[in-house]
Amino acid sequence: MHVRARWTLILAAASVLACVFAVGCKGKSNGDIVVGSFLSMSGGTADFGTESKRGFDMAFEAANAAGGIKGRRLRLENLDDQGKAEEAGSAVNRLIDRNGAVAILGEVASSLSLVGGRIAQRRGVPMISPSSTNTQVTAIGDNVFRVCFIDPFQGYAMARFARETLHLQNVAIFTDVRSDYSKGLAESFRNEFTHAGGRIGVEQSYSQGDTDFGAQLTAIQAANVQAIFVPGYYQEVGNIARQARRLGLNVPLLGGDGWDSPQLRSIGGHDIEGSYYSNHFAPDNPTPRGRAFIEEFRRRYHQAPTSLAAQAFDAANILFDAMRRAPEITPAAIRTQLAATRNFPGVTGVISMDANRNPIKPAVVLRVGPTGDVFETTIEPR
Ligand code: PHE
Repeated sequence: MHVRARWTLILAAASVLACVFAVGCKGKSNGDIVVGSFLSMSGGTADFGTESKRGFDMAFEAANAAGGIKGRRLRLENLDDQGKAEEAGSAVNRLIDRNGAVAILGEVASSLSLVGGRIAQRRGVPMISPSSTNTQVTAIGDNVFRVCFIDPFQGYAMARFARETLHLQNVAIFTDVRSDYSKGLAESFRNEFTHAGGRIGVEQSYSQGDTDFGAQLTAIQAANVQAIFVPGYYQEVGNIARQARRLGLNVPLLGGDGWDSPQLRSIGGHDIEGSYYSNHFAPDNPTPRGRAFIEEFRRRYHQAPTSLAAQAFDAANILFDAMRRAPEITPAAIRTQLAATRNFPGVTGVISMDANRNPIKPAVVLRVGPTGDVFETTIEPR
């Protein structure tokens, strides 16, 4: 027999044995329940992956400590997509084919959830994004869920705060054109802010990964605006804050949840202080359930959780809740129960899936302070 063929046979025999002992094959009914996750553990948004993974880990450990689900242990298989669309797609395929995942958790960045979500949908495996807010993510189909609010609401929340609390009339928008999230949030902020009587004095754009924002900031400076709305991710936002101040452009920046990372302050320094962004969770103003989560998180990681960790914790727990209600642990049965999620008590608030698999939740507005983000206000769903 050919060496290659012999190996294939041996491997096939081994995987049959593995099935017999229930240690890792598809279609088994006892053995571990495998859940896949895909996250950016490296690259320009590595903080998103690291923080979300911590939230997943805490949820998996707690569920296993409580006896698992239907007597089976839960196992998380996490793949690093490096923040790249190509990697996100192959990660989801691999989690389903190689790991036998019955459900997928991820991604954070909307552009990556859009890629992974299309694959999960095609393969009939439910996916829950903890934090992707772009409307199109769950519009992919009935297998794609999220546990966060969506950007039309987030844009409304920041526009309302800008108009009613900060009394701003003339604001710039500075969009990351390589991010579906950024483009969608810019659009909803523009609509809501002008609808509320404000004016967008100038619009500029950049691309994720850029490091020099001088030309665009000079154009913004010429427009004499009172603030700059930057719906980007922390890395570029931190740099934009520094470069704006260096030009003498001393207006606050406004943004959305993509700012949420301790790196924002490391990169932006004092220059980002006094700016505001909307988010899912305020560590200094938690729900009672949030308080317990924060304490446990601090004990483990010696810092306050970002909203990403809290959202990830909720996403995993919503999945477990659906698995408990499902008559059997199959992707289809889990999907049906996920869609039926009502009044789930999460650490980020009470979560019910609407008909489009989007929860309706309030947003918080945070001010970037010298040592941490400070809760400003809550904006309720309209
Ligand atoms: N909402 C962002 C997106 O859709 C991701 C994000 C959420 C980033 C929360 C940070 C914190 O791309």
